[in-house]
Amino acid sequence: MNDKSAKKQNFPKPKVIDQLNEDGYKIPIFRAAMELEVWAKVAAGEDTAEILAEKENWDVHGTQALLDDLCALKLLKKRGNRYGLTTEAEYFLLPDKPTYQVSFLKKEFQWEGNGQLAKAIRTGKRPIHYKATKDDAADIWIGFYACDWADPQSYLESANALWKTLKIRPRTRLRILDIACGPAPKTFALAMGNPGVRITLVDWGQVLKTSLEFADKLGVKKQVTTNAGNLFAADFGLNQFDLAFLGNITHFLNPEENRRLFQKTYGALVHEGVLALDAHRHEYPNPAGPELWFYAVSKGGAAYSFQEYKVMLEQAGFTKIEDVAKRPIKAVKP
Ligand SMILES: C[S@@+](CC[C@H](N)C(=O)[O-])C[C@H]1O[C@@H](n2cnc3c(N)ncnc32)[C@H](O)[C@@H]1O
Repeated sequence: MNDKSAKKQNFPKPKVIDQLNEDGYKIPIFRAAMELEVWAKVAAGEDTAEILAEKENWDVHGTQALLDDLCALKLLKKRGNRYGLTTEAEYFLLPDKPTYQVSFLKKEFQWEGNGQLAKAIRTGKRPIHYKATKDDAADIWIGFYACDWADPQSYLESANALWKTLKIRPRTRLRILDIACGPAPKTFALAMGNPGVRITLVDWGQVLKTSLEFADKLGVKKQVTTNAGNLFAADFGLNQFDLAFLGNITHFLNPEENRRLFQKTYGALVHEGVLALDAHRHEYPNPAGPELWFYAVSKGGAAYSFQEYKVMLEQAGFTKIEDVAKRPIKAVKP
C-alpha cells in the first residue's frame, strides 16, 4: 500500500461507541451519589467539599471530584466553592419529596445483576435481579410511578391518547377490568367525568393502596373496586366486563403464563368485550426498555412480536386481533 492509498482509506468514526463510553462514566457517579445521599446532605448545609468530607468522614479529594462531576451532570450547581441543588435534584433526589426517585433507581440500576448478564446469556439462568411479577417488587413499581402520581396530568394526556387510538370511548355502564394496574391513570382517564364507568383494579395490595389514593385525587374513587393479590390467583369472574386492560405486564410473563392470563381475561369479558394490551414489542426496540431488561427481571418474559401475541390471543379464543398504531393491541371476545 503506497502513501496515497493509505490517505484515501475512510475510517468510520466510533460515534456510537464514544457515546456509550461517555454514558458509561455517568452511571457510576450517579450511583455513588445516590448511595452517599449527597443531595440531602448538601441541602442540609454540608455544601462545600471540605464541610461534607469532614462531617461525613469522607475522603476530601473523592468528595470534591464527586460534587464537581455532579455539577457537570446538572444534578448540582456551584457558586464559588458552595454547592446547591438544581431544580431537578430538588424534586427527585430529596428523600422527603413524594417524587423521590432514588430508592427505586438504586435498585433498578443493578438490573444487570452486578455483572451477571453475560453469564445469564451463557446459561439461560434468570432472573438475575428482582423478579418483576413477585410481590416483593411492588415497592419498585410504587417508586417507578411516583412522578405520575405527583403530576397526573401528563400521564392522563397519554392515557387519553391511548384510548383515542384504540377508539374506546367512556359510556354509561362501561365496566373495566384493569389487570396489573399500577397507578391506573390509564383507566382512571376513562372514568373521569363519566360517573357511569366502573373499574375493578387488580394488583398487589401495597400498589392498590396508592392507586386508591390516586383515584381519590382524581375524584373517581367511588367508581373503583379492588381485587388485591397475585393476578394468577385472583378470580376475575365470568362475563362481567366490557373492557379489560393489560398494560405493561405481559412482557414479564412466559408464553404459557400469557396464555393462561388471556384465557382468564377472556372468561371475564362479555360477548363483544374488548381486550386492550399495551406492552413493549419486539418490532420496536427501545433503549429505555431494552429486551434484555425483561430477560434479567423475569424467568420467561420477552418483548414479544405482534405475531406472537396474535397466536397466544387466538389460542385463548380472541378474534379481530389488531395491531393499533405500533403498540396497543386490540382483541375482541366473539
Ligand atoms: C410495569 S407495571 C404496569 C402498570 C400499568 N398497568 C401501566 O401500564 O402503566 C406492572 C404492574 O404489575 C403488577 N404486577 C406484577 N406482577 C403481578 C402479579 N403477579 N400479581 C399482581 N400484580 C402484579 C406490579 O405490581 C405493577 O404495578
